[in-house]
Amino acid sequence: MSNVKIAPSILSADFSRLGEEVVAIDKAGADYVHIDVMDGVFVPNITFGAPVIKAVRGKTDLVFDVHLMIDKPERYIEDFVKAGADLITVHAESTIHLHRVIQQIKSYGIKAAVSLNPATPVDILKYIIDDLDMVLIMSVNPGFGGQKFIESTIEKIKDVRKLSETVDIQVDGGITDQTIGKCIEAGANIFVAGSYVFSGDYKERIDKLKRGC
Ligand code: DX5
Ligand code: ZN
Repeated sequence: MSNVKIAPSILSADFSRLGEEVVAIDKAGADYVHIDVMDGVFVPNITFGAPVIKAVRGKTDLVFDVHLMIDKPERYIEDFVKAGADLITVHAESTIHLHRVIQQIKSYGIKAAVSLNPATPVDILKYIIDDLDMVLIMSVNPGFGGQKFIESTIEKIKDVRKLSETVDIQVDGGITDQTIGKCIEAGANIFVAGSYVFSGDYKERIDKLKRGC
């Protein structure tokens, strides 16, 4: 059994049948449900908020992996915890008080992660890495599904792995059967995939990603 975990992003799901889509990825072997929250300020796109997450929470026991692409996420952590998040990821670029927001997330007894945009150096993690359950490396500029994988991500994954042997490293953006292998080799273990999973047979595609090709 590989220790690669797959987190399909519901950004590419059919929103008119979101509950059914979450059940379908669960049945297809997903490990996490990756939930992209966008506010139109931190990223140039708006998706959905806590009420939508709460509405589908009862459909599956999978880990709800909430990726906050919102400005000053500290304002909404409690709402997302109440909606059923098991893991909350905030962007290093989205808050002045990154250490504080990590403690805020953990105070609810759930997992905390920090995400870095493609241009943000790994150094920013140096003094907080031991507080983190996961680091999310953006392999595209956040805001949209279906973009092309940025190659410098590979070096970045290696740099995070040097900082910590044990932290989960998640990669998000442009993950397909063509790009996942080199990310696994570099040291990542959790993969977000939106357009790749939702544009084919869910089980076939998740299995293929888990095999690393
Ligand atoms: C992008 C989101 C991603 C997105 C990935 O801002 O954070 O989670 O859904 O989509 P794909 O896998 O299509 O690149
Ligand atoms: Zn995401």
